[in-house]
Amino acid sequence: MTIKYLHDNLEKITENMTYTCEGWILTNRGNEKIRFLTINDGSTIDNLQVVIKNENIKKFKIDSLMLGNSIKVVGNLFLTPNAKQPLEMVANDITLINKTDDGFPIQKKETTLDFLREIPHFRHRTNLFRAIMIIRNSLLFEVHKYFQEHDFINVASPIITSNDGEGAGETLVVDDENKDFFFKQKAFLGVTGQLHAEAYAQGFKKVYTFAPTFRAENSHTSRHLAEFWMIEPEVAFYDLKKIISLADDLLKKVISNTLKKCHSEMKYLDSLQDGKLLPVLNKFIKTKLTIMEYQEVIKELNKVKEQFDEKDIHFGIDLASEHEKYLADKIVNGPVAVINYPKEIKAFYMYQNNDNKTVAAFDLLVPGIGELIGGSQRESRYEYLINRMKELKISIEPLQWYLDLRKYGYAPSSGFGIGFERLIMYVTGIQNIRDVIPFPRVAGIIKM
Ligand code: 4AD
Ligand code: MG
Repeated sequence: MTIKYLHDNLEKITENMTYTCEGWILTNRGNEKIRFLTINDGSTIDNLQVVIKNENIKKFKIDSLMLGNSIKVVGNLFLTPNAKQPLEMVANDITLINKTDDGFPIQKKETTLDFLREIPHFRHRTNLFRAIMIIRNSLLFEVHKYFQEHDFINVASPIITSNDGEGAGETLVVDDENKDFFFKQKAFLGVTGQLHAEAYAQGFKKVYTFAPTFRAENSHTSRHLAEFWMIEPEVAFYDLKKIISLADDLLKKVISNTLKKCHSEMKYLDSLQDGKLLPVLNKFIKTKLTIMEYQEVIKELNKVKEQFDEKDIHFGIDLASEHEKYLADKIVNGPVAVINYPKEIKAFYMYQNNDNKTVAAFDLLVPGIGELIGGSQRESRYEYLINRMKELKISIEPLQWYLDLRKYGYAPSSGFGIGFERLIMYVTGIQNIRDVIPFPRVAGIIKM
């Protein structure tokens, strides 16, 4: 039984019930007659308050117990409906498992996120990182649960691949045909699981991947990692409109279930952000998603172009992060799906619209972050696809298999990718992507 279980099941706690708690000490307060230890076991940010009385204080050497020590406490539980915490434990036996050596970098006084980024192996011992990582775990579980409950099949797209799935040249190289390496052919860490998921959508219809992806992007921003996790559903017989509805429904369910399950963690993060986090998320869950044409977005942004560093806003530009944020924050005041982008700024595999200028793509932008999701209806016509690849000078040979999918009973499909860390940023309100993944990797930095 974890501390989370106790907090979630107060009705099951009977008077004097014995309990064994194994965890880490956060505080040690009180006087020579009565002492209070707060202990956390990692299951929740809620702590268990342990009471030690009279001669037990000396007997268990309570004076020597400190922040960070690992201990085991056996005692009796009591509900305390009138106190700040709903229950506490009176200790009968305490075993110090290990003390904390001098120099433990996590102390009660506030530390900066910059400092904590230097110690990724210890920063989860703070309330903040404990909350973030518990929410991360819930989001991961809820995503899998959503897909499993909607009859999606999970596909293990390969991590090592011979394709640059986005054709953007941002691959991290594993092997090279010129060198005497392992595969003796070009091999990369996957930038996306999409192409392999597309293969499996032809036969399983509704599939998804949820795995690490890798990009050699040199952008040192607060929203890019070199190793990040992506959630990529792919659905045969779906067009752009249907796949956007799926994205919207998935996000709403996953977020609302996490708000319920991680009630304490969300309340804590909300309090750190002056109560501004929960209202935003609750509004999103209840509001119909806004959908806007790219061309309409260009018009709207042009009206306020003085706001931006990049003022040259016309059909054909890739929206900068400042444009995306302004659109979501100020114009729509909530998430927005921008659809039908110019084909020049999008990947080779997207369905080419009749206007010859745009592709059936969508980006889902959210306030504070910008792009959370990128997706599209896929080009279903063999000739269109191969011609587009030739125009973009993408080698056909390594992707012939992908072209061939179109040949044998192909059912047009659509899909998208959610940047999992960006989703966690949105739900936690954390501003820097390096603080929502346990061990961040970015250009030039690979700790541990
Ligand atoms: O828009 P992107 O590049 O789309 C794809 O990779 C498609 N193959 C997805 C698909 O249709 N199946 O990436 C999808 C999302 C982005 O919207 C963003 O949230 C996230 O992945 N992302 C990153 N997150 C962190 N660090 C990076 N370097 C990221 N690059 C993309
Ligand atoms: Mg994108």
